[in-house]
Amino acid sequence: MNTLNDLLLFIEETGLYPEIRSLSSSQKPLVQIDNRELMMFCSNNYLNLATHPEVMKAASEALNEFGTGSGGSRLVSGTNDIHLQLERDLSALKGTEDSLVFSSGYLANIAAITVIASPLAGVPKEMARMLLKYFNKETVVFSDELNHASIIDACKIAGAKCLIYNHTDMDDLSKKLKQHTDARKIIITDGVFSMDGDIAPLPDIVQLAREHEAFIIVDDAHGTGILGENGGGTAEYFNLQKEIDLEVGTLNKVFGAVGGFISGSKSICKLLRVTSRPYIFSAAMPPSVAAGLSQAVRVLQRDSSLRHQLFSNIDYFHELTIGTSIPLNKTFRTPIIPVMIGDEMKTIKISKQLYEKGFFIPDIRWPAVPKGKARLRVTLMCEHTKAQIKLLVETLDQLCKD
Ligand SMILES: Cc1ncc(COP(=O)(O)O)c(C=O)c1O
Repeated sequence: MNTLNDLLLFIEETGLYPEIRSLSSSQKPLVQIDNRELMMFCSNNYLNLATHPEVMKAASEALNEFGTGSGGSRLVSGTNDIHLQLERDLSALKGTEDSLVFSSGYLANIAAITVIASPLAGVPKEMARMLLKYFNKETVVFSDELNHASIIDACKIAGAKCLIYNHTDMDDLSKKLKQHTDARKIIITDGVFSMDGDIAPLPDIVQLAREHEAFIIVDDAHGTGILGENGGGTAEYFNLQKEIDLEVGTLNKVFGAVGGFISGSKSICKLLRVTSRPYIFSAAMPPSVAAGLSQAVRVLQRDSSLRHQLFSNIDYFHELTIGTSIPLNKTFRTPIIPVMIGDEMKTIKISKQLYEKGFFIPDIRWPAVPKGKARLRVTLMCEHTKAQIKLLVETLDQLCKD
């Protein structure tokens, strides 16, 4: 017990214990915190669908009809018609045969990766013994070094051999694939990287996967609903929907609620429904949440103006930062824009100064990003005004100069 207290004391005394701010308003460009109004530049509610009138109406109608909970896991008693409708909507958006929804994206990654990497772990021992002859090769997972924590945790739970390749480094991936010619191979990458905002080089990954007969899983938590002609995500952006074996994503970002999904072929989804532990042992999302999400998918598909407005804001931010002292990475057209401060204490200080000046942008540091790569992770929403963005860039420029 002393050790735990000492650890807490250490974190507090070194100034590393994060300030956890509590909002008393919805996720809009202007939020209420500590009885103050602040400009919110850190929400994943990129298209402001969390408060879209049609989405709120669908969710509240379902809440009145079905109550607050789902009553069970998806496999046993928690599946409602609305979950199945949401799965059809997501399949249409993703251009896949089928989809499964879970109560979080974290769980969706655990479900997808554990089953694909260790397919026999989810079947009874006697059956596993009989099937062993089909899985007599070692499985190796090739995972980008900046993949999300839920992918890293899922690989650990799966117990498969996991090789980390340098971030988006296709030479490194190719070298590692060549060293494992006899293995069953799985390549896993984020579509849009959650802390850097850059886009995975899917065309090169698909090419390497073809050469080495590897299975591809893309976690498109941040690309879904944003990239591609119809908001289908990173695979659609590259016109590679048919080449990706399995897509995973979260429903808490662009769709504005909570939950996760897996989209892929009918047969893999059917298998996942009976072998993935989060589908079997964790409660389904409430039907009201699923109803709001279904409506969010439909709004997103019907109304491309939300995405155009978001991209106009992204372009405006980048235009304004040219020639300023704001340290940005190579820029990608995504709503995640990391301001790379590096030093953890400096990042904490700038985040606090921004707060005092009316901006809510928490500092992001280890373990969310590597040590020494602390940053302010600016995210934009379609409802931000140009005046709000201009004020942010001017303030950031001043603080970074100082
Ligand atoms: C790339 C990525 N994958 C998975 C997740 C987990 O999703 P959820 O928050 O729905 O558990 C996140 C959330 O931050 C993410 O950014």
